[in-house]
Amino acid sequence: MTRLKEKDFGTPIVKSEKTVTGYIDEIEITVPENTSIMRAAAMVGVDIPSLCASDNIKSFGSCRLCIVDFEGRSGFGYPSSCTTPLAEGMKVVTQNNELSVLRKDLLEMYISDHPLDCNTCAANGDCDLQDQSIDHGLYNDNQLAASKYSIENGCNHLGSDIDTSNPYFDFDPDKCIVCSRCVRACNEVQGTFALSIESRGFESKVKPGISDNFFDSECVSCGACVQACPTGSLLEKTVVEKGVPDNTVLTTCAYCGVGCSFKAEIKNNEVVRMVPYKDGGANKGHSCIKGRFAWGYANHPDRITKPMIRDNINDPWKEVSWNEAIQFAADKFKKIQKEHGTNSIGGITSARTTNEEAYIVQKLIRTAFGNNNVDTCARVCHSPTGYGLKQTFGTSAGTQHFDSVQHTDVIVVIGANPTVGHPVFASQMKKRIREGAKLIVVDPRKTDIVKSPHIKADYHLPILPGSNVPLINAFSHVAVNEGLIDLDYVKARCDESSFNDWIEFIKDESNSPEAAEKPTGVSAELIKKAARLYAQGDRSAIYYGLGVTEHSQGSTMVMGMANLAMATGNVGFIGAGVNPLRGQNNVQGSCDMGSFPHELPGYRPIEDENARSVFETKWNVKIQDKPGMRSVNMFDAAVGGEFKGIYVQGEDFVQSEPNTQHIEEAFSSMECVVIQDLFLTETAKFAHVFFPATSFLEKDGTFTNAERRINRVRPVMKPITGKHEWEITQELAKAMGYEMKFESSKEIMDEVAELTPTFNGVSFDRLDKLGSIQWPCNDQAPEGTPIMHVDEFVRGKGQFMITDYVPTTEKSNRKYPLLLTTGRNLVQYNVGTQTRRTHNNKWSDEDVLEIHPSDADMRGIKEGSLVLLRSRKGETTLNAYITEKIPPGVVYTTFHNPETGANVVTTENSDWATNCPEYKVTAVEVEPASYRSKWQEKKVNEANQLEHIIA
Ligand code: SF4
Ligand code: SF4
Ligand code: SF4
Ligand code: FES
Repeated sequence: MTRLKEKDFGTPIVKSEKTVTGYIDEIEITVPENTSIMRAAAMVGVDIPSLCASDNIKSFGSCRLCIVDFEGRSGFGYPSSCTTPLAEGMKVVTQNNELSVLRKDLLEMYISDHPLDCNTCAANGDCDLQDQSIDHGLYNDNQLAASKYSIENGCNHLGSDIDTSNPYFDFDPDKCIVCSRCVRACNEVQGTFALSIESRGFESKVKPGISDNFFDSECVSCGACVQACPTGSLLEKTVVEKGVPDNTVLTTCAYCGVGCSFKAEIKNNEVVRMVPYKDGGANKGHSCIKGRFAWGYANHPDRITKPMIRDNINDPWKEVSWNEAIQFAADKFKKIQKEHGTNSIGGITSARTTNEEAYIVQKLIRTAFGNNNVDTCARVCHSPTGYGLKQTFGTSAGTQHFDSVQHTDVIVVIGANPTVGHPVFASQMKKRIREGAKLIVVDPRKTDIVKSPHIKADYHLPILPGSNVPLINAFSHVAVNEGLIDLDYVKARCDESSFNDWIEFIKDESNSPEAAEKPTGVSAELIKKAARLYAQGDRSAIYYGLGVTEHSQGSTMVMGMANLAMATGNVGFIGAGVNPLRGQNNVQGSCDMGSFPHELPGYRPIEDENARSVFETKWNVKIQDKPGMRSVNMFDAAVGGEFKGIYVQGEDFVQSEPNTQHIEEAFSSMECVVIQDLFLTETAKFAHVFFPATSFLEKDGTFTNAERRINRVRPVMKPITGKHEWEITQELAKAMGYEMKFESSKEIMDEVAELTPTFNGVSFDRLDKLGSIQWPCNDQAPEGTPIMHVDEFVRGKGQFMITDYVPTTEKSNRKYPLLLTTGRNLVQYNVGTQTRRTHNNKWSDEDVLEIHPSDADMRGIKEGSLVLLRSRKGETTLNAYITEKIPPGVVYTTFHNPETGANVVTTENSDWATNCPEYKVTAVEVEPASYRSKWQEKKVNEANQLEHIIA
């Protein structure tokens, strides 16, 4: 259990080499210079009364409750301890009669303009005003005492309408004490600047943007203001409904790769709210809308909680016992293997499950299935990261911890939209940019990070989809030609021969900015300016996303960025690095756990006899010495009739893979499809067995985020399905003839640690002690490794790779003149399985096609009208959103909704090294439409039938 309310030091930590020593109520304390008296006092255990201060926002000095006295004070009045720094030798008095009288008087003024209804207030028991009133003797009969500045005798603000527009929280102006904590949290923590204090003096009031309510304002519902509010003015609706929680469990968000730590706050064994954990290594007490509010899907009525089987995919589902379902699946798999051979079945691990759940699935496949036909959804997102960074640096992971960005001078964001994809990291990044870091954004779209309140990219390079490689090569060309290479670094840290080859390659005119103009659509001059800025930065860091990897040259681009970073000496220290912003909560972990067909846990090649023998000895089986099939190979082989059965842990391939028709054909060709998921997904329509899965609130294990940080996921409740997911897999293995004997997920992690050098030091006990651990964690790094490649690269010398530009074969022409690129929005997540079952739909419940006004005009397309999106692969319809954020010649959509089926039009082109699909480039044409595409009609019919086929 974790404390419900964490300690608040009142003002933010100060970093200073210089220290001062003073006394708080005669207790000596030494603090960094400029530390507030309030913080110094909190550090020695003296909590000074306060209402407007909090340690994640700058002090403001408005409530005056924190006044203190000190020896030698000059002038009238007492200083506020939140705005006054402790000085050398200062002797501070925090409590005496006079201070008490003054504080009580101040409180009475607040109370005079506050409803006297603690008894019925939803925040009863979780309110700083209530706490202070109790401490100062102003609380009688379970409510605030009537004030001497009584409500009846003067003006007040009571009787205002409550703003209930946001589906997750209410704003009750009656309870607002205008402390401005919400405004400062929105500005400083979230960086959205959605709130302001309107008017002055008595008329002051909180206002969301220029709107009358939160929902219509710029607010992104991160909840930072709600968390900051010291009264019941801003309050979660769930607290209003269920009451103030009285218990808490520390766990980790199950959405994106930021991996925010949360306190799941509970009452009567029910989650009431999720509160970001202040000591969370990744998020430091902040969150986005998804993690904080969109967890209701866990109890959604659509959730399947009983195992189901059927002989044929057109039959109705039949609910059966766990034993029957597991035996049914095992018998089918065994029969297939008997008839079609060992390699005719395989499985997929999920990036949404815990490390332990992913590990046990790949173990099932390598033992009970007896092959290496295991893959994971990282195949379709960051497999090029794994390949590219391993070739150049020696390990398949990002180089930095998130905190590193606070030390960066030049931030380069390539093919990532962090404000929607990785919102909490985006807030951290934006903070650094507001402090003065330079920003280069490479993205076809004018994403939010290009321009938002108090943020403006120094350079935005709106490249055409598919032209990352010529761009990064041109950056390196500029660095080499203009003498911006860090030769000392290269000499000391990198492989000389590969560097010399690379220099010859990159100097070639074909890699010049002038040559890059045509494919990128960006002027040579702009490329040169951006390249110089990166190369000349003291600490330059690259952050990238799927706009880098989901291309036919994804791996080339990752290596291109690594080359540039090594050549300019930007790897191996704080503030620098090359960092993938990984998509799903445990995509890093699922890769770490050996989910690829060519790698055992810890990225050890399957062909490596020594590595294999470690596992063979422990598992008591012979492991095939050749890589198994990738997911794409499995699907092709299924269509070809050689691959017959698959165990899919939490992945909705039919919706998430490109070329949907091909995937549907693959799944309908198989004899046994086992789906383990929360809901009947699009892929489950092709399943013979459905194993109901657990939500993150039921899981016990670990997730690993984008910075290699292993976080604990602790169960808030027992699995409502009756089984943990690792138990299902273990029992399936047993039914197929291979016995595993795990009794808890803790024991699974112990086995991972025993067999995996980079995890040797990881255990649940150590995680409980340290909070989180960034791998590698072993004898050399018992507390983990925040920054990699510090003294040398993991592979020894950094390897430069030749990054020839081989353009995609997917080209626009007269028939398909536009390039479609895809992405996501803030409120929906991936294929929307979870978020579509929450109130997040109120912000976005459909995928729209973003199109530039000139392209829309040319085609007679009006805002909001239905358009047909057609590619060489298929067609679909969706509504148009006309915007200048997208350049002419490019269109954009998300893929959150099955009815839109954006992947019906994407192609099966993929990265040359890893088969990561080329989601980001599809040649298309768009035209006005008056009716749905045939494909969509089919989907809608299927959806209508779905309820009839559940027996
Ligand atoms: S929810 Fe977040 S974005 Fe919205 S007003 Fe509050 S702090 Fe600002
Ligand atoms: S809404 Fe809450 S945090 Fe904002 S000013 Fe009012 S009392 Fe302070
Ligand atoms: S940023 Fe990612 S991990 Fe954090 S709360 Fe949002 S979705 Fe969850
Ligand atoms: S806490 Fe210092 S003035 Fe409000």
